[in-house]
Amino acid sequence: MKHICVLPGDGIGPEVVESAVAVLKAVTDDLQFEYAEIGQSALKKVGSTMPDETLELLRKCDSSLFGAITSSESLGEASPVLRFRKELDLFANLRPVKNYVNLAGRPSIDVVIVRENTEGLYTQNEQYDDKGVTTLRRVTRAASERIVRFAIDYSLKNARKSICCVHKSNVLRASDGLFVSIFRELMASEGRVLEAREQLVDSAAMKLVNSPHEFDVIVTLNLYGDILSDVAAGTAGGLGFAPSGNIGRVYSVFEPAHGSAPDIAGEGAANPTATILAGAMMLDHLKMRNEAVSIRQAVKSTYDSGHLTTDIGGRHGSRSFTDHVIGRLKRGDS
Ligand code: NAI
Ligand code: MG
Repeated sequence: MKHICVLPGDGIGPEVVESAVAVLKAVTDDLQFEYAEIGQSALKKVGSTMPDETLELLRKCDSSLFGAITSSESLGEASPVLRFRKELDLFANLRPVKNYVNLAGRPSIDVVIVRENTEGLYTQNEQYDDKGVTTLRRVTRAASERIVRFAIDYSLKNARKSICCVHKSNVLRASDGLFVSIFRELMASEGRVLEAREQLVDSAAMKLVNSPHEFDVIVTLNLYGDILSDVAAGTAGGLGFAPSGNIGRVYSVFEPAHGSAPDIAGEGAANPTATILAGAMMLDHLKMRNEAVSIRQAVKSTYDSGHLTTDIGGRHGSRSFTDHVIGRLKRGDS
């Protein structure tokens, strides 16, 4: 029995997490779910956006499933998401983006973005002076090496053919330059069987819209990975299609790439696909591969049979889409 920490969070978080947990329960009896608070809902209930008990449960469980939070605008408050990524040393953010439905006028996409998850512009280290604010952007050799190694290892294990390093070393010559030089070094020594490619981040964004087939695996720095994964999700149909895994040596937290979507929260209209697929990624991580494949097939066959979610012009909200996926899993006709 594997113990899963579940963090529903804010906005559409609880609704998409409920769908994903229902799908996981339909595919296996080997998971035990334990719930904890995070975000603005936690602040209201227990006075902190990241209660100590939540961090404790994240550490105690075999893996975790997280919805989303609404960020605080208060300057003094560290993001709870950045806190758990840092405290659990979840150094790799794995973001596969793939079409589950073919949309008119959009190219097909099958890209895996491997995003450095611990440094870059995400240290929230910002200093005021009399003229403005300086933000520290940190790129270390150690963090760059381990994310490039993760991308190589992932590509080899998943029969991927090429890795593209996305950066902005034409401007950020020292910091992004270091990242690129480590990429070249490690691809030459440990990733020789893979094709090594490089692309500046601005043109990479354009290509993810116009010619995503040019990419296979992308390895990139923290903020670029965040932005590019939303661009790629747009090509696949929207944020409701993009799952994500925060992975470290010991711990892991799976979540949709999207946020709390306050504009649609409470309407039952959120597309739960990203979170359901994040659940499948969690099963892959827990070595429950057959169950993970069944979930992906059930999602695909739900779309193939014309059951479309409202974000792509269909009529299915979170509940009814989830019921169709579960129906397919139970009948075994996924
Ligand atoms: P967002 O990802 O919440 O929403 C962007 C747009 O995509 C909205 O129009 C929303 O309705 C739509 N959308 C997102 N997920 C969807 C789904 N599953 N189905 C259908 N439509 C979906 O990003 P936004 O609006 O920039 O941020 C809202 C809040 O979420 C902010 O407080 C932000 O800081 C927070 N956020 C939290 C994250 C996390 O908890 N990991 C990640 C990103 C943002
Ligand atoms: Mg994001």
